[in-house]
This record gives sequence, structure tokens and C-alpha cells, in this order.
Amino acid sequence: MNAAVPRPVIEDQPVFMAAAFAHDVLAGLAAEPKTIPCTWLYDREGSELFEAITRTQAYYPTRAETGLLQSHMAELATLASGPVAVIEIGAGSITKTRLLLSVLPAATAYLPIDISAEFMLESLASLRLDFPGLPCIPVIADFTDRDSLHKAIARCPSHARRLAFFPGSTIGNLTPDAALDFLNALGESLGPGSLLAIGADATSDADILKRAYDDPEGITAAFNLNLLARVNRELGGDFRLETFRHEARVNQAKDRVEMHLVSNTNQEVNVLGRAFHFREGESIHTENSHKFGNIRFEHLAARAGWRSQMVWKSSEHQFEFHVLDRPAEPALTF
Ligand code: TRP
Repeated sequence: MNAAVPRPVIEDQPVFMAAAFAHDVLAGLAAEPKTIPCTWLYDREGSELFEAITRTQAYYPTRAETGLLQSHMAELATLASGPVAVIEIGAGSITKTRLLLSVLPAATAYLPIDISAEFMLESLASLRLDFPGLPCIPVIADFTDRDSLHKAIARCPSHARRLAFFPGSTIGNLTPDAALDFLNALGESLGPGSLLAIGADATSDADILKRAYDDPEGITAAFNLNLLARVNRELGGDFRLETFRHEARVNQAKDRVEMHLVSNTNQEVNVLGRAFHFREGESIHTENSHKFGNIRFEHLAARAGWRSQMVWKSSEHQFEFHVLDRPAEPALTF
């Protein structure tokens, strides 16, 4: 590993993660309908495949959001002009972070949180070349777990104001109820006076969505199917990948795109010595990507105690970037 990268704080120990993965897979395959939480898509291979998705023509969110950040980021600097500690949630490839840090010369620390350890540390090594003086504290943790999130944020050494950076519309991978809980928990852990800079996709065009989540090059399919390969690698599974197909389903009633792995035949699959039956056409639901066209993101955030300060909207695809703050005193609502 690059010597310049500080030793990460491992909030969720690898042994614990392996047990949690096994638990979620066994419980999810026994459930009806079958489902596996999307967190587990991001092993090393998964993180690399997701990066490749963001570079496809079909996957518009990355382009739309990057465009917004490029044209508006300086406005954010006016809100966060003093010393500020930046906490990135689900940091991944740490690409958009550069746009943020370049307008925050008074940043006191950068604390990226991600479950995909190796991938994040390599990405961080490259960021450090561009921001050599910035103290960095990488934290390996599952941010969807409230307790892990809280402990990760508590690692932030600085007493400066905190700014959480959560791009990519990753918030949409939670159901609205879970997103509300998450935004509440995030606000409590960050404390009063904090800022939140977050991407939220509000695209509703079914054709655009379908293409973005099932790109013609097949990278999204490979990304989704990698979950079964991971179960085979890590949990002694015997999934035959060629007997499953990736499917992206637009669920208009629930304002979301759903990702499924559909079995092409009747078959039995074994994982950790347990047998699971699949009917032909039966699926494992692997991810939701909620879109904030109908449920307005700012309304959801307001219910969790966040006050809207700025909203930037892309014209071509309805991607939104929100900047919010957390008032020192909770607002009185009647
Ligand atoms: N946060 C991304 C999104 O909702 C994640 C994502 C994009 C994704 N494409 C995917 C997850 C395909 C699983 C499968 O857009």
C-alpha cells in the first residue's frame, strides 16, 4: 500500500463483516421474496464495476451531478467559508471530492467512510497527491448501520464545523423510511450547525431509467451478477452465473428502479451447506434506487431536521444537488 496513506480506522472488523455477509445472504435467500441488501454489491470487484458504470454513456447521474458541482460549487464555499471538517459517506472512488475540496482551502480534515476498504484506500492515495497538507482519516465501516455511522463520525478529530458530503444519489438506495432514519441519525451524529451536501436524483422518464440501470454494454449486468460470484467466492456458494440474468424494473408506484437477479430455470443452489430452491423466473431483489420526483427530497430532509440552503438542478436530467444545514435549535413546528 502507498506509504502516504494513513492507516485506516476499521470500525467494522473483517470477521464481523464476513459474519454479517453470511447472515444477510442466508436470511435473504430464505425469505419470500428473496432479497440481499445492496451494501454487499461493493466488494473490490463490485466497486470497480460500479466505477465502470459511472463512465458509461447510459448512466446519466454521474455526468449530471458532476456538471452541477462544476458550475455551482463556489456557491457552497460561501456557506462553508471557515474551518470545516469534510466527512464523505460511501466515498468510493473519491472523484467528485476534488471539486469540493478545491473550494474549501480552510478544510481541517477529510474523513472518508466506505465498506470497500482496498478500493477506498487506493483512491485516497491519489487524492493525497493533490491535497498533500490535508489530514485524512479513512474509516472502514458500513454507513447504513446507525451504530457504525455514529462511531465513524466520532473519529473526526477536529472541533471545526462538520460538512457531510454524500453524492451519487446513494440516499435513494434506502427506502424513504430508512432514508428518514438515516438523515436523522446523521444529523444527530454530526451535531448542530453542521452542513450536508447531497445528490438526489429526481429523474422519472422510464426509458432513461431503464437504460441507465441496464446499460447496453452489460456492465450493470456484470455488476449485479458479481454478487453471486462473491457468494461463491466467500461463502462456498455454487451459483451458476449463466443461469441468472440481470433485470432493471421501473416501479412507478414506488418511485424507484429495482435491480433483480432472475433465475432462468427451476434449480437448487447451495450456500454454506444450505439448499435454496429457485422457481423459473424467481428473482433475488438486490437493490432499489429511489427517485425524488414525487417525494421531494427537501421535504424528507426537513422531517429529519435539515434546513434547505441551496438546490441546484440539472436541466437535461432531473438530477438535484442539495445543500442543507442543521439549525442549532430544533425549529418549532405547529
Ligand atoms: N447509487 C447508485 C444508483 O442508485 C447505485 C447503482 C447504480 C447501482 N447502478 C446500479 C446499484 C446497478 C446496483 C446496480 O444509481
